[in-house]
Amino acid sequence: MKVEVIVPAAGSGIRFGGDIAKTLINLAGKPLVLHCLDVFEKSPSVSSVILAADARHLKQLETMIRDHRLKKVKAIVAGGKTRRESIENALKVLDANTKIVMVHDAARPLITVDLLEAAIADCVTSGANVIAVPVVSTIKEVDPQTRVIRKTLERSLLWEIQTPQTFKKEILLEAYVKRGSFEPTDDASLVEKLGHPVKIMEGSRRNIKVTTPEDLILAEALLKQK
Ligand code: CTP
Ligand code: MG
Repeated sequence: MKVEVIVPAAGSGIRFGGDIAKTLINLAGKPLVLHCLDVFEKSPSVSSVILAADARHLKQLETMIRDHRLKKVKAIVAGGKTRRESIENALKVLDANTKIVMVHDAARPLITVDLLEAAIADCVTSGANVIAVPVVSTIKEVDPQTRVIRKTLERSLLWEIQTPQTFKKEILLEAYVKRGSFEPTDDASLVEKLGHPVKIMEGSRRNIKVTTPEDLILAEALLKQK
């Protein structure tokens, strides 16, 4: 059963600082994006990887991937202005016989083989799942103009959604075709809109996303501790 992974890596890293390419930033001795690619390389269920990257970095990434001997990266496509566009560009080059598509943000370097193997195994029956952790903080909805709290959400029902997010190919493709004008921040929200159930798989607090410079310090410490 063929499993392909899409790795969106074409963001501009505004919250990180903007002037530096977040994807290529050095984390524990290698560029951020190579951390997750190394994990996919080791994962027995993953057949191939499609990377979506900033058009200005395509050549550099090609060289980096060759030098790093990453055999599973079959294509590097140019990303778009939004994450959604980057994913759409990658969906175009999926193999005809691929059954399962996993999407994983390049900004999450601490994914493990065990976690993604579990997600793939579950997807065979569920058709759609996301890795997530229970929310630990109290989350409130706030009026953007007045900054007055509108309501406090019931924490025991809330999960913080991460990647990987894993789908049967036809479900994900249908979700993107029927997107309309909705601009999602993850792939599951499009599948939810279809009405298809998306299962939560409890992951790990170690699977952080490098968004701000503080996250890089945290990621470095977590990698050392591994
Ligand atoms: N991404 C992408 N194409 C875009 C925007 C985002 O491929 N047009 C990717 C990022 O490279 C990242 C993942 O989507 O791996 C999650 O996005 P995020 O963490 O928000 O990264 P950035 O969009 O780069 O950061 P920011 O939102 O702070 O600009
Ligand atoms: Mg972003």
